[in-house]
Amino acid sequence: MKKTILITGASSGIGKASVKKFQAEGWNVIATMRSPENETELNELEDVLIAKLDVQDQQSIDKAVQAGLAQFGRIDVVLNNAGYGLLGTFESVAKDSIQRQYDVNVFGLFDVTRTVLPYFRKQKSGMFINISSVGGKITFPLTSLYHSTKFAVEGFSESVHYELAPLGIKVKIVEPGSVTTDFGGRSLDFQHDTNLDEYNDFVGPVMESFQALMDPAKSSPSELVAEVIYGAATDGSDQLRYRAGADAEQMLSARGAMSDEAFIDMMKQQLDIK
Ligand SMILES: NC(=O)c1ccc[n+]([C@@H]2O[C@H](COP(=O)([O-])OP(=O)(O)OC[C@H]3O[C@@H](n4cnc5c(N)ncnc54)[C@H](OP(=O)(O)O)[C@@H]3O)[C@@H](O)[C@H]2O)c1
Repeated sequence: MKKTILITGASSGIGKASVKKFQAEGWNVIATMRSPENETELNELEDVLIAKLDVQDQQSIDKAVQAGLAQFGRIDVVLNNAGYGLLGTFESVAKDSIQRQYDVNVFGLFDVTRTVLPYFRKQKSGMFINISSVGGKITFPLTSLYHSTKFAVEGFSESVHYELAPLGIKVKIVEPGSVTTDFGGRSLDFQHDTNLDEYNDFVGPVMESFQALMDPAKSSPSELVAEVIYGAATDGSDQLRYRAGADAEQMLSARGAMSDEAFIDMMKQQLDIK
């Protein structure tokens, strides 16, 4: 029987590449996004249902899940992909921006998961694939809020997998490294209040070093991440974590072999932090 995947954040990047990959492999796809009216490409694909879903809006989650079930009869996999990055000094960020970062990256993922869980429980099968990041395992400076959401995704996914496995429901975590998507542009929100001038000597040089370190040649295309996601969905294994990209493999292996102090020293050296 044809399988069905529901994907959040399917308007661009990893989400869109995943829609194309699963569709090309013969799956039904519920491609969800905040603004389906802007979509021009995915509507052309057979067995792809475009549905409106804002992870901050429970009603839209309910409607998209119902529309998907009505169209395809079942859901086999949910790809929790929607997310964005908040950067800057923690003290500068307004409380509502912190709330939004958590609403999208963490509570949105919880809400989509809780909406689909009753169906998975009844059908005694299903899989959640949660998009974390290398940044769910290691941290860079000036990214405390984003990292804390991805660490939350990692901890949540690993723990909840214990209680769901006996019900026939799998949980998988995909950890991309740097991926050439809109994430670094439209999905990154940098906030620093330069009036907090004690931070300025730190922020300027670190942001410059970041730019220098960002080598597009070392980034992976979103199609590569979609391949890893497809592998996670179909390999039949109980593997929990999947790294996506050569940089992810390299950074996470290096981190695993280092003490906290050695890692922090290396980070400071690379970013030229005193
Ligand atoms: N790019 C990287 O280097 C990288 C590395 C590691 C992990 N990741 C993770 O990969 C995931 C996808 O990011 P991407 O790189 O593919 O960036 P992207 O192209 O900017 O995609 C982000 C997606 O999230 C959606 N989104 C944002 N807020 C939403 C909301 N409230 N409800 C529903 N959808 C929402 C965006 O939709 P709109 O079009 O409506 O804005 C967009 O489709 C994210 O979870 C990100 O943290 C990315």
